[in-house]
Amino acid sequence: MADGLAAALTAAWARIAELAGRPRTDGGAPGAIRPLFAADPGRFGRFSCAAEGLLLDLSKTSLTEEVLAALLDLAGAAGLEAQRAAMAAGTPVNATERRAVLHMALRAGRDAGFRTAGEDASAEVQAMLGRMREFCAAVHQGRLCGATGEAFTDVLNIGIGGSDLGPAMAARALWTPGAPMRAHYLANVDAHAWEALRPGLDPRRTLVLIASKTFTTQETMTNAALVRGWLEASVGEAGVAAHFAALSTNLAATAAFGIPAERVFPFRDWVGGRFSLWSAIGLSLALALGWEAFDRLLAGARAMDAHFLAAPLPRNLPVLLALAEIWHVNGLGLPARAVLPYDERLARFPAHLQQLEMESLGKRVTLAGAPVGRATGPVVFGEPGTNAQHSFMQLLHQGSTPVPADIILIARPDHPHADSHRKLLANGLAQAEALMRGKDAAEVRAEMQAAGTDPAEISRLLPHRLFPGDRPTATLLLPHLDAFTLGQLVALYEHKVFCLGALWGVNAFDQWGVELGKQLAGAILPELEAGVPRPGAHDGSTEGLMREIARLQGGG
Ligand code: F6P
Repeated sequence: MADGLAAALTAAWARIAELAGRPRTDGGAPGAIRPLFAADPGRFGRFSCAAEGLLLDLSKTSLTEEVLAALLDLAGAAGLEAQRAAMAAGTPVNATERRAVLHMALRAGRDAGFRTAGEDASAEVQAMLGRMREFCAAVHQGRLCGATGEAFTDVLNIGIGGSDLGPAMAARALWTPGAPMRAHYLANVDAHAWEALRPGLDPRRTLVLIASKTFTTQETMTNAALVRGWLEASVGEAGVAAHFAALSTNLAATAAFGIPAERVFPFRDWVGGRFSLWSAIGLSLALALGWEAFDRLLAGARAMDAHFLAAPLPRNLPVLLALAEIWHVNGLGLPARAVLPYDERLARFPAHLQQLEMESLGKRVTLAGAPVGRATGPVVFGEPGTNAQHSFMQLLHQGSTPVPADIILIARPDHPHADSHRKLLANGLAQAEALMRGKDAAEVRAEMQAAGTDPAEISRLLPHRLFPGDRPTATLLLPHLDAFTLGQLVALYEHKVFCLGALWGVNAFDQWGVELGKQLAGAILPELEAGVPRPGAHDGSTEGLMREIARLQGGG
């Protein structure tokens, strides 16, 4: 990096630290939110941003105009716009793996012209979408059926991580009983998962997709072998081929598994696993929900891409979400974030974001291999509201460290129970309000006095009943949950992740951190088979646990 740019970046980070370290002119601490509302009733108008039918409200954070300006300076100094352009141009921005990052090409229009290394990525995507669409039509019309001639009613996706979470999350969000097929997802190598699915499936009517970018992932290949055995027992060895298709970049491995080329839906290494929902990895969705729904999902993501690429940074939703995160993580030192979708259909959305954000941003060295020198990706966790309120929200309200939360609200439900939906929204709005407002000693005392509590009891309970408040939330309001708005929502967070990678200077597109555990599991496996640890191969704890497992299994 040129000296001038490095100096601008250092100055921008220093400015954020300075703003976070000094009391504000309104007398509030840097993280205080209530004084901002007291001083400025129009705050909602200035710290919320509507775009593409979505509304992002950041007014219940401690962002001020001064802080936002400093964060935008950081975006400028980090070359966020140039980095965004490099990604869109097919430059290998995933430098450690020397790969382009072109998930936007997967949902772009026919003439989008995404290219990388001289190849026309857009043309390739269109050809693949055409094949996927034709495959779906053949399955839905019964032209492609099982070995015994019965139509497929169920699709079983075997995959893990990005080859599972995105499609499983979207199927959970969008599937309705009238949909063309039922979708099932098998991820864990724990065969209890397969045993739980198996009774609900008829092998003669089940189409199995092996979804694996590498086609070497232990969990997926183990489950594929289990399912193959189950199919063989029902339709015979010769019939099995009619029940499988593969979604992968590794064509040699899919051929070795015995899947004919016409049933392999490849994608390229410029599609990262956690960004692959829009690629052939989404085939289970297209089959289960129908092509039109899958197409709308892509259209929603495309609309968000257009917004991300064109909107000025101060009105750019993914950029604003990323800047708020920088403020919380680096300015205020908050190491976690909760994701609270107030919609049961989004139950798996926090799990999808956990991989998207934590696998992307759980990095501590820069692209150049130097220490980042500041906190990066926070811990992300979540559950749908209102369930979350009855489990971990206590900590968000009264715990020792504030945890920012994303609250996702859907204005119009897809059921006729208006009263239930009003209660759902009331709770979502109330959580954000309560986290920000808190409750002080005077309020608690007045409340308890009004309830007739005696003064000694008031003194005893008062500290426990205080709410510190000033706890930040970002509220996202969607008009309705459908394939289009879900596509927008997922792409919004994908671009947020890109922005944070660019601002922290880390590679958001590799995941070397998952390798060591895989290597060590590979070494431990034969020892478990043998029933004894290899002497001296492990630390005392691992060896002790292995011996104890062997004893409990009756072998030691
Ligand atoms: O182990 C992590 C990971 O590589 C993820 O990045 C990926 O989404 C997942 O495993 C599954 O990988 P594959 O699609 O190659 O089976």
